[in-house]
Amino acid sequence: MKRVGLLGCGAIGSEIAFAIDSGKISAKLTHIYDFSKDNSKKLVDKLQNKPVVTENVGLLAASPVDLIIEAASQDAVRDDILSILQNRKDVMIMSVGALLDESIFDIVMDGCRDFNKRVYLPSGAIIGLDGIRAVQDELDLVTLVTTKNPRALKGAKFFETSTIDPDKITTSVVIYEGNAQEAVKLFPANINVAALLSLAGIGSEKTRVKIIADPCASKNTHEIYAEGKFGKFSIKVENVPSPSNPKTSRLATLAAIECLKKICGTPLNIGT
Ligand SMILES: NC(=O)c1ccc[n+]([C@@H]2O[C@H](COP(=O)([O-])OP(=O)(O)OC[C@H]3O[C@@H](n4cnc5c(N)ncnc54)[C@H](O)[C@@H]3O)[C@@H](O)[C@H]2O)c1
Repeated sequence: MKRVGLLGCGAIGSEIAFAIDSGKISAKLTHIYDFSKDNSKKLVDKLQNKPVVTENVGLLAASPVDLIIEAASQDAVRDDILSILQNRKDVMIMSVGALLDESIFDIVMDGCRDFNKRVYLPSGAIIGLDGIRAVQDELDLVTLVTTKNPRALKGAKFFETSTIDPDKITTSVVIYEGNAQEAVKLFPANINVAALLSLAGIGSEKTRVKIIADPCASKNTHEIYAEGKFGKFSIKVENVPSPSNPKTSRLATLAAIECLKKICGTPLNIGT
């Protein structure tokens, strides 16, 4: 049975931990770390099978686990991914936006090659990445339109330099249009799906992103349009936000759990 370590005990990390604890995933959660001691303690208190809470991320990386799940932040990927790979652990990354930084992407790819390790990127809050990957060489255009309640966008770096105040948005409004490369920097906790689409498709400079803030939106909606020599397709996902973090969609957590099941050797593999 695979031994799993968890970096980040928030909305996604906690749900993954519960899924392991309940036996839904054939794995053992043995070590966890969160820089908020409060968050790791809250999680441990709710688990039947108590993991070790490590004092720092270095001790998590060095712990006797097979796989570490990052469910923390882009900063955590930037600061800790090399040490995790050097300690010869496979890693599942949720804060995928960090990988659009070429230097981080190279560190990850070199680390995988040098230490013979694997990195898993679950499909997160969208569907259709299988199709995007399949037509990767024939794509001319990929666009993502994301609509969220301003509440779910609050705190993004974008608002530090913008004249838009998320608390004062009263009607549906396009607050951002640009490419995925820039979008993940301005909205690091909101638009990981743009990073996934870029990595699977035509790259972060060509992937177009539009963000709409809609005070009436109760769901996190992602609309993807792709076209090229293969034809075209469009996908719309209307996600229920996670109760403990409105920025995160329930689907992102469920996709991570499904990805972990696959890693842990479910005998049935469906889809690409
Ligand atoms: N891939 C996707 O589609 C997708 C979807 C939703 C969220 N995400 C990303 O996944 C990550 C986790 O999401 P969440 O909703 O669980 O967030 P959250 O804010 O609920 O939880 C994050 C936890 O990680 C901890 N943390 C943050 N930075 C840390 C660090 N450097 N070291 C140790 N602990 C750290 C925080 O204290 C918190 O407990 C976020 O980066 C989010 O943007 C990805």
